[in-house]
Amino acid sequence: MKHFIDINDLTYEEILDLLDLADKLKKQNKTGIKHKVLSGKTLGMIFAKSSTRTRISFEVGMYQLGGHALFLSNQDIQLGRGETVADTARVMSRYLDGIMIRTFDHQDVLDLADHGSIPIINGLTDLMHPCQALTDLMTIREHKGTLKGLKMAYLGDGNNMANSLLQAASLCGMDIAIATPADYGCETTCIEQARSNAVAQGSKVIITTDAREAVSGADVIYTDTWVSMGQEDEKAKRIKIFTDYQVNSELMSLADSKAIFMHCLPAYRGLEVTEQVLEGPQSVIFDEAENRLHAQKAVMVRLLSPDSQI
Ligand code: CP
Ligand code: NVA
Repeated sequence: MKHFIDINDLTYEEILDLLDLADKLKKQNKTGIKHKVLSGKTLGMIFAKSSTRTRISFEVGMYQLGGHALFLSNQDIQLGRGETVADTARVMSRYLDGIMIRTFDHQDVLDLADHGSIPIINGLTDLMHPCQALTDLMTIREHKGTLKGLKMAYLGDGNNMANSLLQAASLCGMDIAIATPADYGCETTCIEQARSNAVAQGSKVIITTDAREAVSGADVIYTDTWVSMGQEDEKAKRIKIFTDYQVNSELMSLADSKAIFMHCLPAYRGLEVTEQVLEGPQSVIFDEAENRLHAQKAVMVRLLSPDSQI
C-alpha cells in the first residue's frame, strides 16, 4: 500500500490487515500500551473543507504514535491562492513524511500522489471518504463479529460516503443495498467496481430507489447527510427530494431485529434520521466516531512505518 486514496485500491487481505491492526491498537491504547513508531515523522493535513472528527482523530493519532501533525487550512497555504497541486506536492514532499488531504475535487488528491514522493491519505473528497468506510468496517466487525454474509443498507444521497461504502462492503463480501432517489445515485464506476467485487466474493449489490426494499432484512442501516459540504445552496430542494429516505423507527423495523444503525456524522436530526433512531439502542454512532482514531492509526503505521512491529 503506497497511498490511501480509494478503498477499492486495496485487496481484501490488505483491508483485513488494517482492521486487525486497528483492533490491536484500540485494545492496547485502552490498556496504556503505547507505540511511538512514528517518532520523528510529520504529517501535513490539508483542509479545504470543515472537519471535526477527521482533523482531531488524525492529529491525536499522530501524537499517540509519537509523530507530529500540521494543520494546513487551504485558506492559509498558497494552494488556496492558486499555487498548483503539482508544485505543492513537490514542495511538501521535501518537508513531510505524509499528507492527509480533505478537498473537493478527487483529481487533486490523485495529482498530489502523482507529483509528490510521499504517501497521500484521502480525508474526503466529493467522490469518496475511504477513511470513514474503513472505520465503518471496523465498527461493524466489532458489533457483529464478522463482515462476510452481512447485509448493509445505505439510504439517502449517493454521495462520497455511499461510493466508499459500496466499494468497502463489496470488497469484504457483504451484501450492499443502496437506495437513493433516481437522479442522486452512486458514481457509475463505483457501482461497476462493487459488482465486480461482489462476483469475486459471492455477495450481492442492490441498487434501487426503494428504501423499504433496501432495508429488508439488513444487519446494518446507514445514512448520511442529504446536503454534503459544497451543496448548501441546494438544501431546500434536497430536503424535499430525500424525504422518503429518512431512517425512522418504521423503516428500522423492516431490518433484522439485531440491526445496527450507523452514520458517519455530522447528523441532522429530523432530516436523514430521526432523533429516536439516532439516540436509540441500535445506534453505534459514537463507536464509529471513536474508531476513526484507531483505524487511521493503522493506516498511518502501514504507510509511514511499514516495517514496524506492533
Ligand atoms: N465523518 C467525518 O468525516 O466527520 P468530520 O467531517 O467531522 O471530519
Ligand atoms: N457526505 C458528507 C460527509 C461528511 C463527513 C459531506 O461530504 O459533507
